[in-house]
Amino acid sequence: MHKVSIKGTGSYVPERVLDNAYFAKLVDTTDEWIISRTGIKERRVVEPNQALTDMALPAAERALEMAGVTAGDIDLIVFGTVTPDMLTPSASCILQKRLGANGVAAFDVGAGCPGFIYALSVAQKFVADGSRKCVLVIGGEVISKWTDYQDRGTCVLFGDGAGAVVLGPSDGEGEILSTHLRADGRLWDLLYVAGGGSRQPPTHESLDAGLHYLRMAGHEVFKHAVRYMTEIALEALEHNRMTIDDLDWFIPHQANIRIMEAVADRLGIPAEKVIVIVDKYGNFSSGTIPTAFDEAVRDGRIKRGDLVLMDAFGAGFTWGSVLLRF
Ligand code: ACO
Repeated sequence: MHKVSIKGTGSYVPERVLDNAYFAKLVDTTDEWIISRTGIKERRVVEPNQALTDMALPAAERALEMAGVTAGDIDLIVFGTVTPDMLTPSASCILQKRLGANGVAAFDVGAGCPGFIYALSVAQKFVADGSRKCVLVIGGEVISKWTDYQDRGTCVLFGDGAGAVVLGPSDGEGEILSTHLRADGRLWDLLYVAGGGSRQPPTHESLDAGLHYLRMAGHEVFKHAVRYMTEIALEALEHNRMTIDDLDWFIPHQANIRIMEAVADRLGIPAEKVIVIVDKYGNFSSGTIPTAFDEAVRDGRIKRGDLVLMDAFGAGFTWGSVLLRF
């Protein structure tokens, strides 16, 4: 088996900013409530005519540039998302065409907020077994188009964005050390979008009833997220016979600062090792971890050789962690 490393990173968030004052005019909420309960000050959302691959394309191009490769070098595309441009074909196929990476295998992985962790885990195995040498992995979502802007319990939380990495065989100390994935489908009905699938196809009635919007039992999600993100972070460290002290950086899924702080606190990770972008972008599901990773690489916080733990939880429920040396 080959060692697999991350060659380049990239990300993109849309230009349109929605601040908390925008929501205070829309629903019964306040800037103070949103910041104290979620840590979110602003989020980015796409324009009505924009879709997921409009963000994935620049994110991917930036990752390819950092990796020093071109679209013609890509031999596999794996895209973690639950909000593709359209129901079919996959976002990865549309992105493949837009990049000009013609003919290579391309597929989406739908795993809720850990979509990027799941996608990275799958993609890594193609490089490890020697069958691929340059794999583009993306995580991204357009949550704003599935958000009920009349529901104060969800609308303040979500935004849009995408992040990407390029994987290849390691030629130095960089290495994806392990990936751990879990799911518990018994709890699917605590976080879901009911309409638009084969159970409830879109109809005038389903749209009028708002079945195409994301619904969530916020408190239950919160509890399970803290418990399972803590467990799977420890699983990653134990598997590699490492401790919290070995970590340089912790990148949790950016859903809510209180979830992130609770997990870091239980693990004993100091705040200065936690990468935080939830304040400026809100929760954009599978896009948050690769975007936080890219921003911290580009601003010089994460350096080659650093030990990084990624950790996410989301709809399914699904959860997962990645431990890597950059
Ligand atoms: N403004 C003001 N009040 C609000 C708002 C708001 N935006 N939203 C909810 N409230 C009210 C509720 O109606 C409730 O009022 P009530 O007591 O009169 O019934 C009160 O605040 C408390 O509600 P809780 O849900 O108990 O508040 P909590 O402290 O749990 O915070 C929150 C709510 C922020 C949604 C929290 O539960 C949370 O973050 N949960 C996790 C959500 C999440 O991360 N989901 C996504 C994860 S998976 C993924 O990323 C897709």
